[in-house]
Amino acid sequence: MNVVGIEGNLLHDGLSRVLREIDSVFDAFLTVPGDTRARLVEAMRYAAIGGGKRVRPLLVVSTSELFGVDRTAALRAGAAVEAIHVYSLIHDDLPCMDDDSLRHGKPTVHKAFDEATAVLAGDALHALAFEILADHGTSADPFVRSELIMTLGAASGMNGMAGGQMMDMVADEEGVEYDLHTITRLQQLKTGALLAASVEMGAILGKAPPEGRAHLRAYARDIGLAFQIADDLLDVEGDAALAGKALRKDESQGKQTFVTLMGVEKAREQARALVDQAVARLANHGREADMLRALARFIVERDR
Ligand code: IPE
Ligand code: IPE
Ligand code: MG
Ligand code: MG
Ligand code: MG
Repeated sequence: MNVVGIEGNLLHDGLSRVLREIDSVFDAFLTVPGDTRARLVEAMRYAAIGGGKRVRPLLVVSTSELFGVDRTAALRAGAAVEAIHVYSLIHDDLPCMDDDSLRHGKPTVHKAFDEATAVLAGDALHALAFEILADHGTSADPFVRSELIMTLGAASGMNGMAGGQMMDMVADEEGVEYDLHTITRLQQLKTGALLAASVEMGAILGKAPPEGRAHLRAYARDIGLAFQIADDLLDVEGDAALAGKALRKDESQGKQTFVTLMGVEKAREQARALVDQAVARLANHGREADMLRALARFIVERDR
């Protein structure tokens, strides 16, 4: 078996294990109440369980492993980032945003339930993320808990995902023309911030000193950018059945991406160069960083 194959198996096993584990963390947190809140929690379960690649939780878990962190704690932190991610997708799909009807191969939350329920399910997943991190079960150390909360909060808000989503929404307005620098910033906020937070949270759980985090931050920045370029490439040339969501929408919706700016070939080259750079950042680690290396490669070569 060649190196790609070995790496592929490692990644496949890593992702499928985390997929099962994250599903069971969400299953435990999301008990449907026997009153009129039931629809809310059913919508949360519909969005959070059994869908998505779980790239962010695997990043948390794989970074945590570099520092010998207890897996249960890493999975809780992973579920917290994933809760933010799932909420961001529910809202991203709403008619007032990207107006999508399909996600993970099934109707989006506002289609399967209704718009108000989708808004509230997103809100409640957002809150759940911080509840999980603030709980003693995630770490016995209150400094670790507060650093986790601060990191995820910063990556989710105006200086992170929500800020990037705003830039993305404004992109289709008359007279708004982004240059490469601004698109890079948009992507770093919209997508890069949560991926970077995933790596950072592994380092926080591992109590890695600041100087021990710099190369991981650089790795995370590179893969974050590459991840969104890959998503934008998939929008242009991917298979919708595999992706489980509508494709060929970015251009007609006036999105500005690396692909719309520099074309498919240059964007792909850029993504691959970023991944090579990300892998090179891990040069001082041995086999224990193989999952992070495999994840970086998967991010640009993925078909969903
Ligand atoms: C899709 O993210 C939206 C972006 C931030 C590019 P993912 O591709 O990680 O979505 P799922 O959770 O695996 O479906
Ligand atoms: C969404 O980016 C990023 C989020 C913060 C949710 P996209 O709008 O490109 O994601 P998809 O293509 O709908 O998954
Ligand atoms: Mg969007
Ligand atoms: Mg979208
Ligand atoms: Mg997209």
